Amino acid sequence: MESEELLTQGAEARVYIGKLNDEKCIIKERFIKKYRHPDLDSTITKQRIKAENNAITRCLAAGVLAPKVLQVNYNSKKIYMEYFDKAITCKEYIKKIVSTKSIAESETKLSELCVAIGVILSKIHTNNIIHGDLTTSNILVDPKVDDFSEYELILIDFGLSQYSQSPEDKGVDLYVLERALLSTHSQQPKLFEIILASYQKQTQDGEAVIARFQEVRRRGRKRNMVG
Ligand SMILES: Nc1ncnc2c1ncn2[C@@H]1O[C@H](COP(=O)(O)OP(=O)(O)OP(=O)(O)O)[C@@H](O)[C@H]1O
Ligand SMILES: [Mg+2]
Repeated sequence: MESEELLTQGAEARVYIGKLNDEKCIIKERFIKKYRHPDLDSTITKQRIKAENNAITRCLAAGVLAPKVLQVNYNSKKIYMEYFDKAITCKEYIKKIVSTKSIAESETKLSELCVAIGVILSKIHTNNIIHGDLTTSNILVDPKVDDFSEYELILIDFGLSQYSQSPEDKGVDLYVLERALLSTHSQQPKLFEIILASYQKQTQDGEAVIARFQEVRRRGRKRNMVG
């Protein structure tokens, strides 16, 4: 039998460290939402699991790192994935840098990180993968050296993802990230700027996406002003 250790409990899923064929893995279990009609709940859950599985397959094909899916079980609503046991979330990584490095050094490190994030986002959008929930908790930093002087970025949490060529969807994806950064890393207001510049540099025909992003942002501002 599996022994499972609870890692996080989100709004829709519990994430465990478990085992599959004697290998450590991540088990993401989507639980029943009581306020939803059972049929609707089951449809949504299935869709989230499918979206996660599909997006991961697409990312890996596009050369973007994501946890390999090891097994999917629609009955138990569980998805078994590769576990990155040394990785920390990008959110933790940013906080760690800010609290341990000098101002000059943390600026360099954060800038490097943001350039790398821009490159990854450009890759997924070029492959028409919309993440749907871009936050610094949904990007993992996997160290290649113990002190994190070298690392790889891994994208996770694709339950809200979709396949779309639309610049609007891509623009919204960027906007979601900007909002997340502003609220989670308000002390580091430059992060998104650097990500966007890197994204723009990497992305062929990125202008349409950036234009849509700016429009979405304007709409958001207006909405906030109206209240
Ligand atoms: N493959 C993995 N390897 C290492 N840690 C992981 C992995 N997948 C998830 N985690 C950790 O578990 C946390 C929650 O995972 P995830 O973001 O997939 O779930 P969630 O946010 O609860 O999902 P949802 O938003 O779909 O309800 C991550 O922020 C990360 O800390
Ligand atoms: Mg998450």
